[in-house]
Amino acid sequence: MRNLLIVLAVFACALFVQAQTQPQLNLMPMPASVQPGSGQLAINQAFSVAVTGSRDGSLDAAVQRFTTQLSRQTGIPFRPKAGSTPTLQIHADHGRQAVQKLGEDESYELTVADSGAKLTAPTTLGIQRGLQTFLQLAQITPSGFVVPAVTIKDQPRFPWRGLLIDVSRHFIPIDVLKRNLDGMAAVKMNVLHWHLSDDQGFRVESKAFPKLTQMGSDGMFYTQAEIREFIAYAHDRGIRVMPEFDIPGHSRSWFLGYPDLSSGAGPYTLEGGGIDPIMDPTRESTYKFLEKFIAEMAKLFPDAYFHIGGDEVDGKQWDANPKIQEFIKAHNMKNNQDLQAYFNERLQKIVAKNHKTMVGWDEILHPDLPKTVIVQSWRGQQSLAAAAKQGYRGLLSFGYYLDLMWPAARHYAVDPMSDAAADLTPQEKSLILGGESCQWAEWVTPENIDSHIWPRNAVIAERLWSPQEVKDVASMYTRMNAVSHDLEWLGLTHNSARAHMMQRMAGNSDIAVLRVLADVVEPVKDYNRWDDAKGPIDFHAPLTRMIDAVSPESDTARRFSDLVQTFTQSGYKDQAAETQIHMWLTTWRDNDARLHPLLAQSFFLQEDVPLSQDLSALGAAGLQALDYLDKGQTAPDAWKAQQMAVINQAKTRQADMLLMVVAPVQQLVEASAGQSRQN
Ligand code: ACM
Repeated sequence: MRNLLIVLAVFACALFVQAQTQPQLNLMPMPASVQPGSGQLAINQAFSVAVTGSRDGSLDAAVQRFTTQLSRQTGIPFRPKAGSTPTLQIHADHGRQAVQKLGEDESYELTVADSGAKLTAPTTLGIQRGLQTFLQLAQITPSGFVVPAVTIKDQPRFPWRGLLIDVSRHFIPIDVLKRNLDGMAAVKMNVLHWHLSDDQGFRVESKAFPKLTQMGSDGMFYTQAEIREFIAYAHDRGIRVMPEFDIPGHSRSWFLGYPDLSSGAGPYTLEGGGIDPIMDPTRESTYKFLEKFIAEMAKLFPDAYFHIGGDEVDGKQWDANPKIQEFIKAHNMKNNQDLQAYFNERLQKIVAKNHKTMVGWDEILHPDLPKTVIVQSWRGQQSLAAAAKQGYRGLLSFGYYLDLMWPAARHYAVDPMSDAAADLTPQEKSLILGGESCQWAEWVTPENIDSHIWPRNAVIAERLWSPQEVKDVASMYTRMNAVSHDLEWLGLTHNSARAHMMQRMAGNSDIAVLRVLADVVEPVKDYNRWDDAKGPIDFHAPLTRMIDAVSPESDTARRFSDLVQTFTQSGYKDQAAETQIHMWLTTWRDNDARLHPLLAQSFFLQEDVPLSQDLSALGAAGLQALDYLDKGQTAPDAWKAQQMAVINQAKTRQADMLLMVVAPVQQLVEASAGQSRQN
């Protein structure tokens, strides 16, 4: 038996290596085990599906969606002949839970041969996951659409793979959220964390407390009927919906209708200003309110988990309120943190009374809380490990903030089990449930939110589903780009919106030359955009500038940088790389003159004039550097000094954007001046 296990383990590793070296299977997330076969299954008009075993409404709907999607992707209207052998046979042993549970079996096996395909799973939820894999496998070939022969055995690494969407700062309508649920299902994510209230808006209809939305929103919120329908839509796609009501901080919107909940005098406006308002944890009336409110919301949201926020309680309103300070002293508390812990303890009891498990941001971590609570780590991986050491279950979000505009590779490198968590015992590690990417909504609208979430979110989905060893960055980018195309077929607008927004800026002019510039810039990173927002942000201002339209990560810049690395490593001999580098540099050098009339004619684009000039200057610098390298000459110091001035100018942010091709051009300039940077 032991020998057999070793043989199996070696075999599994071999499969795994194969899975990693077969990037032509554009799967994301990469399955746990992939065994390529020989041959391929044709996808043509005769395509049909047969279902045996357990079957429920959600499976039938999933199969229907799958067939529609395959038909849409391939453009083939399926017309199977009656009585013919089904192309894809599906068999599930069991149905799903009526309310999706954390850890419900999502495994599946998919075998594709040239004669047909078979998808089996212990549950209909696993079938859903397998159908998404099948869709990703479909590819175009000279002989038509096919699915390559393959045997896949797959299951998730973590049971909790979420995406947080903030709908408070900018309201995001249900139809936009639904297409993002479709995207999540495509990459096998299974939790939508719905950040429903914050300082800037309360977004859920409460029948018990109608002023929460009447006064605490701009009129944009979800009715309870819409929420029920949305949760059913998510359930159909194998996605849990966890609500978050962020308290006691981030709660100004509550106080417009119910000022007695707050620790200060008010009056409050959604626009804010002044010190951050916080809920008053010292009054019994606060808990009476929360009892009634949470009971109502616990019924509306069937998920077993209920997020109470708990982050960034700065405590200034507590400091400024003598009654609250008196309460702290009278209860022998040391500080505001103790007061928040007291609040959380009482809150936890209310949540538990409603048969829910409390989830909160890492600030809630306190030994007085019962070990059932889940801690969501956002300030660093340290808190995830600290929670696990104290016996709490945890989720990682630090490193997965999509609003920080990081490149996909940076998110991809963050693993819930690395960093501080790497030294945990196996028992402690078992408390780490997974993670969530976060799309905070200060700088997104329904128009561009997709392009901030996708395709980078697919990479985080892979980190949470696939084996830890799946981490080849080049393979990741190839597969991410393929999945990005698939996601557009689902109705996501991450690519199409960019073109629409640029067309708005350009009026009736052709946007081709504008794209040359837009394709090599990125928004400023981290929280740097806030620098220019003097005072409170106007959340009703248009987000229609170039920064709002461009991709968080420039594909062109990444590819150009790769070309320069290839060229450098070849000792400046790789002709193919040099030809392409030359082509790009020429395009950039010449683009400013072509773009100038357009920039001048649109008020949107005038701020981008210096950016276009800098790109042109970079192109010229790079071309001259190539020339020196070609001739084997060392560029003179004076020339180099001039080019470095150009480069340093191009490094400065313009219109809240960064030119992403500066570093590789600098590399060429330094190399031509005899400073080799082969690394
Ligand atoms: C957070 O980003 N304040 C959770």
